[in-house]
Amino acid sequence: MRRYSRIAGTGGYLPPRRVSNDELAAELARRGVETSDTWIVERTGIHARHFAAPDVASSDLALHAARQALDAAGTAPDEIDLIIVATSTPDMVFPSTAAILQHKLGITNGCAAFDVQAVCSGFIYALAVADAMVQAGSARSALVVGSEVFSRILDFSDRTTCVLFGDGAGAVVLKASETPGILASDLHADGQHVGLLCVPGHVSGGAILGDPLLKMDGQAVFKLAVGVLEKTAHATLAKAGVTEAEVDWLVPHQANIRIMLSTARRLHLPPEKVVVTVAEHGNTSAASVPLALDVAVRAGQIKPGQNVLLEGVGGGFTWGSLLVKM
Ligand code: UT7
Repeated sequence: MRRYSRIAGTGGYLPPRRVSNDELAAELARRGVETSDTWIVERTGIHARHFAAPDVASSDLALHAARQALDAAGTAPDEIDLIIVATSTPDMVFPSTAAILQHKLGITNGCAAFDVQAVCSGFIYALAVADAMVQAGSARSALVVGSEVFSRILDFSDRTTCVLFGDGAGAVVLKASETPGILASDLHADGQHVGLLCVPGHVSGGAILGDPLLKMDGQAVFKLAVGVLEKTAHATLAKAGVTEAEVDWLVPHQANIRIMLSTARRLHLPPEKVVVTVAEHGNTSAASVPLALDVAVRAGQIKPGQNVLLEGVGGGFTWGSLLVKM
C-alpha cells in the first residue's frame, strides 16, 4: 500500500513585542531614516511586525511553535523521529537549530535533526523533504518548523528593507498515513540571482568578513516572484491532478499583499481564498507560511478535507509549492 504524509497538527508563535509602523517610523526618524505608516501599508500591506528580545534565539521561538503543533497532533515529543528546521537566522553557525530544538523539547530518542536553508522558501523545501522521507519509510512522525529572528540581520539605516521583516515561528507535525495528505510538491532554485536578496557576510578567522546585514533589490524580487509563483502553482496542481477551482485556500509566503493578490488573480482564485497574515506579522521569511497556516487552522477557516496550496519564494533565488489535503 502506498504511504503518504498528513499534517496532523499546526503551531505558531510570535514574540510578544509588537512594533507598529508608527512606532518603527518614530524609531527610524531618530536615526535620520524617513518612512511612514502610509508608505508601508500602501506598498506592502504591513501594519506591524514582532521583534524578539535580544536574548531570544530561533530555537526558542521554534520551541513554542513546536509544542503547540505537538499538542494539536496529540503527539508526545519522543514519538517524533525526524526534525527539520527551516531558518536563515540559526542560533549558531553550527550545530543545527534542529538539533538544539530536539534538546529543548527533551527528545532523547536519537531522531534525525537538521536545518534547511532556502530563505523564504525554506518551509516549503523542509516540508517537501519531510514528505519524501515519510513516503520513503524513513520517518513516521516528522516535526517541520520555520523559525526566524530576521530583526538580527536588518539594516535599520536602509528603509527599503528594515520595515518589511519580523520574527516568529510556525510548525507542523507530519504523520505517515494510508491516505493523502501532501498531494504534490514542486521546488526550484536559480543561483544566478544570488545577489538580489542576500546577507553577503561570512565568518572567517574569528571575524565577520563582508556585510552581515540583509540586502534586497525589492523591485527585481517582486517581478521574479509573481512569475515563478504562478508557474510553480500550476506545476504542483498538474502533478496532483487538481484544478484551480478545486483549491480551497492559498497560503502564500507573506512578503507583500500586492504579490499575494496578483498571484491569486493569475490562478483565478478570489481574494477570499487567500490567507493573509502579513498585516500583523510582516515578512517572517521561513516562518511565514507555517504561521499563516496555523492562524487559518486555529481560526477554523481551513477545515479537514480541504485542498490548501502553500507557496514560498525568496533568496537564492528559490521558490516552490505544495498541495495539501488537510
Ligand atoms: O521574502 C522574500 C521575497 N521578498 C519580496 O517578495 C519583496 C518583494 N518586493 C517588494 O515587496 C517591493 O518591491 C517593496 C515593498 C520592497 C518596495 O515596493 P515598491 O513599490 O517596489 O517601491 P520602490 O522600491 O519602487 O520604491 C518607491 C519609492 C522610492 O522613492 P522614489 O525613488 O520613487 O523617490 C523609494 O526610495 O519609495 C521609496 N521608499 C520608501 N519610502 C518610504 C522605499 N522604501 C521606503 C520606505 N518608506 N520604507
